[in-house]
Amino acid sequence: MTELVQRDPAPVSSGVEPATDTEDAREVALQTRVHAGHQLEDQSEMTPRYYDVLVNTMHIAADLEVVTLPTYSPSILNAPTLEDKIAIASACQDELGHAQVMYRMLEEFGYDTHEFLFERDPSLWRTNQVLEYPHRDYVESVVSMCYGDRAGYITTTDLEENCSFGPYSRSLRKVNFEEVFHVQHGERWVRRFWNHSEESRRRVQEAVDFYFPLCAGWFGVPDTLKKRTDQLLYRIRGASNDQMRQKWLSQVVPFSESVGIEVPAHFDEEQGQYVLDYTPPVYLDPDTLKWDFDRHITWKEQFALWKQGSRYKVPSIERLHQEVYGEDLW
Ligand SMILES: [Fe+2]
Ligand SMILES: [Fe+2]
Repeated sequence: MTELVQRDPAPVSSGVEPATDTEDAREVALQTRVHAGHQLEDQSEMTPRYYDVLVNTMHIAADLEVVTLPTYSPSILNAPTLEDKIAIASACQDELGHAQVMYRMLEEFGYDTHEFLFERDPSLWRTNQVLEYPHRDYVESVVSMCYGDRAGYITTTDLEENCSFGPYSRSLRKVNFEEVFHVQHGERWVRRFWNHSEESRRRVQEAVDFYFPLCAGWFGVPDTLKKRTDQLLYRIRGASNDQMRQKWLSQVVPFSESVGIEVPAHFDEEQGQYVLDYTPPVYLDPDTLKWDFDRHITWKEQFALWKQGSRYKVPSIERLHQEVYGEDLW
């Protein structure tokens, strides 16, 4: 929470002080209400802990929307046709619109969007590995839309359907509507490139090889390792990490199989669910961007890597700060 810049003092709890009896009663009452399906409409209804969890969730979601710009925009240059340049550019525009909705909402909680976007230390941004590698070509962009935007869509759909803060849940209707277009654009083009030529098929497989484990990691650690479940406790979201990952797998594995793309996951008849063919976390070579499924790293190492971000994270955000896109894109 320390990186949040506040204009006005706001009720932020440390989350570690012992609760008083009155706080306990408020917590229990709030948790009971949200689990009964009640949606909060105003900050006055929140406890400090609820406030923290909600703001943190919106903040991460907003940052993730913004970093799609430096990630996707390089492929505007090398998209094969003008229509494709327009498709990528308008997807970027959609994502910035999504960010705008979320930052606007954060302003109501006392946060300063300009400060967030242009003055915050880039290393403090909350990003995700999926969005930390600027696309090297249009194939990476469409693979990323097909697999990565779908992962994002599953997360934001869960928030729209379940979030106990009414204004945030409702604001995601438009966001999710647009995400469907990104995913469909990705699917259409992945199929097209797969069937276009030997070379484009090889490139699709290569891009999926890189993105599939990244996207499976989008949903975070397995439930068995998750210590903080506040988002579920306060019904900020409805599904756990593993439930959302399972939903993603249940869509991308059949899609990939229908196209002919190989992915490191399958449906396990015995367990009655989709499973990964490797045990995360595994090593990603930062130079070749190849995964080594036989080289396991510890969760501690994985957390450190997530926290640090890829080597492209900070330069990408610095580029956002410089506003050079107008000169750069065409
Ligand atoms: Fe988005
Ligand atoms: Fe998207």
